[in-house]
Amino acid sequence: MQRQSLIIDCDPGVDDAVGLLLAFGSSELDLLAVTTVAGNVSLERTTRNARILRQLAGRTNVPVFAGAQRPLRRPPGEAAEFHGAEGLGVLETFEPDLPVAEGTAAQAIIEAVMNRPEGAVALAIMGPMTNLALALRAEPRMAERLGPVVVMGGARSEGGNITASAEFNIWADPDAAAEVFASGCRVTVLGLDVTHQVRATQARIAAIAAQAGTCARTAASLLRFSQDVERRIVGWEWAPLHDPCTVAWLLKPEFFRAVPCRIEVETESDLTRGHTAVEFRVDPASARHHWVVEADADAVFALIAERLERLP
Ligand code: BDR
Ligand code: CA
Repeated sequence: MQRQSLIIDCDPGVDDAVGLLLAFGSSELDLLAVTTVAGNVSLERTTRNARILRQLAGRTNVPVFAGAQRPLRRPPGEAAEFHGAEGLGVLETFEPDLPVAEGTAAQAIIEAVMNRPEGAVALAIMGPMTNLALALRAEPRMAERLGPVVVMGGARSEGGNITASAEFNIWADPDAAAEVFASGCRVTVLGLDVTHQVRATQARIAAIAAQAGTCARTAASLLRFSQDVERRIVGWEWAPLHDPCTVAWLLKPEFFRAVPCRIEVETESDLTRGHTAVEFRVDPASARHHWVVEADADAVFALIAERLERLP
């Protein structure tokens, strides 16, 4: 079976961390690089956290590139109350052995995509879309050359999680998201409408915690942290599993149902900044965007548990 070349662009972030571990444990993916962005916490922290996860998973062959320190034209807005001050919940952070790679995230994305056949490199975006927007500004031909772009972001029927109208990743850099959606890239979007269906319940966390490996126990601790925060701030008994859905979709698209659409992002209004306007009245044959509406949550969690078992 042909391995899917992939770059993960992320802001770890407890759920990003679980998404990274899922990818590290999945041999069908040829993980070319992890790129980081400021989002949940500062760029310095998200980059260190990605390097920590890489070390825990023993995947020192995967370079980590640091990306944008701030959104295109907004001040950075963090979500540390959902991820802990260091971004990895209660996990003890440390300075990893391997350094960050030389060059920027945008350059790394451009190089990987432009030096491989058209459509060969997929991109999973788990944070604000600043790095891809910068890459597209520098190399607009990327829009045609990129393989599948799968994004965690946005909200339609569920409403927002950072404001009434907006989901955090799109809200954090609405201008970047608007540019990416307008660029012509093929983008599949997993917003809150679907990630709220993929619930880290007590039983699902317990199934992961029962495994012996460090990575599985780390993932269980991250999920428990999210569950505690969700209980305290939102009042739910379970935390939604956002970012790992992007990797799960690449591995097993049959676990999800996606609808062709056109997505635009509100960039000007203070009230509805970052709102994703999803138009389903499009020609399915030429639609560049897909909005995911349904997930098989049991299957997604079983996949995560199975892949974590392969890691140290
Ligand atoms: C998204 O926002 C971040 O806080 C999470 O890591 C996820 O990417 C969910 O809205
Ligand atoms: Ca994230």
